[in-house]
Amino acid sequence: MFGASAAAVARVTLPLLALLPLVQSNDNGLALTPPMGWMAWERFRCDTDCNDDPRNCISEALFRDMADRLSEDGWRELGFEYVIIDDCWMNRTRDRDGKLQPDANRFPSGIPHLAQYVHARGLKLGIYADMGRFTCMGFPGTTLDRITTDAQTFADWGVDYLKFDGCNSNALEQMLGYPLMSRALNATGRPMVFSCSWPVYVGSLPPEVNYTLLGDICHLWRNYYDIQDSWDSVQFLMDWFFNNQDFIQAAAGPGHWNDPDMLIVGNFGLSLDQSRAQMALWSIMAAPLIMSNDLRQLDNAARGILQNKGAIAIDQDALGQQGRRLLKEKSRIEVYWRPLVDSASAVVFLSRRSDMPFLYRTTLGKLGYGAGHYQVYDVFSESKLKTLNSTETFSVSINPSGVVMWHLQPMGRQDPGV
Ligand SMILES: *[C@@H]1O[C@H](CO)[C@@H](O)[C@H](O)[C@H]1NC(C)=O
Ligand SMILES: *[C@@H]1O[C@H](CO)[C@@H](O)[C@H](O)[C@H]1NC(C)=O
Ligand SMILES: *[C@@H]1O[C@H](CO)[C@@H](O)[C@H](O)[C@H]1NC(C)=O
Repeated sequence: MFGASAAAVARVTLPLLALLPLVQSNDNGLALTPPMGWMAWERFRCDTDCNDDPRNCISEALFRDMADRLSEDGWRELGFEYVIIDDCWMNRTRDRDGKLQPDANRFPSGIPHLAQYVHARGLKLGIYADMGRFTCMGFPGTTLDRITTDAQTFADWGVDYLKFDGCNSNALEQMLGYPLMSRALNATGRPMVFSCSWPVYVGSLPPEVNYTLLGDICHLWRNYYDIQDSWDSVQFLMDWFFNNQDFIQAAAGPGHWNDPDMLIVGNFGLSLDQSRAQMALWSIMAAPLIMSNDLRQLDNAARGILQNKGAIAIDQDALGQQGRRLLKEKSRIEVYWRPLVDSASAVVFLSRRSDMPFLYRTTLGKLGYGAGHYQVYDVFSESKLKTLNSTETFSVSINPSGVVMWHLQPMGRQDPGV
């Protein structure tokens, strides 16, 4: 289903697509900044064993626990609002009317009740379905003929967000199904965020992926592979996103976002420096900030990184412009940059070294900044640094596999910069 065969299918189906009305069905005022929240998958996977692992199995209790934590531990006020169910919530069969139904043992109160519970805490509920015969884990899929029914079921239940995966379908079905689901969700009249896993199933890049079309029908989309709980995985994903920035950066903007997958900060695979690096680079990418961790047992250091107001503000900047990698130095220091509203900007210095904190020397001018003075705020030390002239040499000390993240504001009337 990848590569040349997808392109062949695309050629065959373009005339078919031309028959579909070209409405921008995601344009409903949602996701004007990248969605924030919590999702079960990376941390809790398809654990359905509620007998031996009641605290961690995919069940209504897990999502209630996370809604409690989001609303009581300061997350909601920072913008983390979506509680998102991933795969493995379903009964193995549809009900008598052909509707999806949750596993009755693990979700005894039903999804509408869970939605009410989540809404009562000022949060929103996300759910998972799959454009195909079965979900990735083998639960009932949403074939083309089921799309309208499933969209209506989610709306009736009070769902606010749909992650629509793409296992067990071919490129033709996906090309028809994703736009159909977008319009079916719209037709329910209930505003829902639509997250599409489409691009990863058709090769991730143009010409197989039409990012303009994705932006018209989806609020966010999974471009590339699933994240795993390791620094290797974080680097693998960030490298793909920045190596391909010329293809994908322009696709992002208010209402439509590239999604490099969940934040894994607070789990087992990242050091504190690597955790700051994920938070910083995801914010530079204008990525959705969707955590997958156990909010019931986060240590204070992980919580501090995920709740860092400066990083969140950069991620959620209203301009909505995705940042870029500016430089890869021979010293294995890399520099990333994102423009923000009011001529402000964010810079991240990342070290790929494994020896010791590295003293990197440069000037703002070398990073493309225009003449003038800039007020510098260090995001993770939460402190104002001295004002920098664009020609002045400065140094930053960057820990191995760590970052320094700055917010810069030009002083007075200045050239807006890069
Ligand atoms: C449906 O799409 C139209 C056109 O983009 C938009 O104005 C409207 O808000 C959408 N409605 C819902 C419920 O998403
Ligand atoms: C699944 O659905 C069937 C038919 O609706 C029902 O008989 C069965 O008890 C359900 N099982 C679970 C685990 O939800
Ligand atoms: C991509 O999609 C857009 C919007 O639907 C359409 O106008 C454009 O022709 C498509 N581009 C290609 C190369 O198919």
